Amino acid sequence: MSRGAVGLIWAQTPDGVIGAAGGMPWRVPEDLAYFKTVTAGCPVIMGRRTWESLPERFRPLPGRVNVVVTRDAARTGELAEQGAVTASSLEKALETAQAHISDARSTIWIMGGGAVYAEAVEKDLAGMASVTVINERVDGDTYAPELDPRRWELIGSAQGAGNWDISETGTPYRFETYRRV
Ligand SMILES: NC(=O)c1ccc[n+]([C@@H]2O[C@H](COP(=O)([O-])OP(=O)(O)OC[C@H]3O[C@@H](n4cnc5c(N)ncnc54)[C@H](OP(=O)(O)O)[C@@H]3O)[C@@H](O)[C@H]2O)c1
Repeated sequence: MSRGAVGLIWAQTPDGVIGAAGGMPWRVPEDLAYFKTVTAGCPVIMGRRTWESLPERFRPLPGRVNVVVTRDAARTGELAEQGAVTASSLEKALETAQAHISDARSTIWIMGGGAVYAEAVEKDLAGMASVTVINERVDGDTYAPELDPRRWELIGSAQGAGNWDISETGTPYRFETYRRV
C-alpha cells in the first residue's frame, strides 16, 4: 500500500507530550471536533491501550471502522464484542483498513498511541501527519514521534505561522499539517 493513503493524527504539547496516565492531559474540545471531522468516514487504527482510553460510550468511534492492534490473541474476542476489528500487527491493520475503504480517496488514519506512532514513523508507513499543538506545559508519560525535518515538511498551519487559536477552555492551540517528502 502506498504511504500516501495513510495519515498520522495526534495532539501534543510543544514538549511532545501526547498522554499521561492513560489519557490526554488537557481539554480542548475544538481538537476533538477537528479529529472527528478529519477522520469521518475513514478507517482508524489504534493501539489496544488507546482503545481502552476511549470512554466506553464513545467506542467504537462512530462512522469509522475501528481497527485495534494487539499482540494478545486472548483479547481479540472481547475487543470484537466491543465493536473493534482486531489486527495482530500494524501491517495487518493497514491491510484490514484498506479492505474496508469504499472510497478510494479515503485516508487511513493511525490515531495512536505512542507505541503505534513510533512504529509507524520508524517503518515509514505514512505520508501525512496532522498535528495539533496544545500550547501548555504538562507532565506526561507518552510522547509523539520525532518527525525528522529532512523527511517531513510542514505544509501548513490553519492559524498561520506562530499564531494560536484559543480554546473555549482558554488553552492556546493550532493545527499543523506535515507531508512526508
Ligand atoms: N494526544 C493524542 O493525540 C493521543 C492519541 C492517542 C493516544 N494518546 C495517548 O497515548 C497513550 C496510549 O499510548 P501507548 O503508547 O501507551 O499505547 P498504544 O500505542 O495505544 O497501545 C499499545 C498497545 O497496542 C498494541 N500494539 C502496539 N504495537 C503493536 C503491533 N505492532 N502489533 C500488535 N499490537 C501492537 C499492544 O497491545 P497488547 O498489549 O494488547 O498486545 C500494545 O500494548 C494514552 O495516554 C492515550 O491517551 C494520545
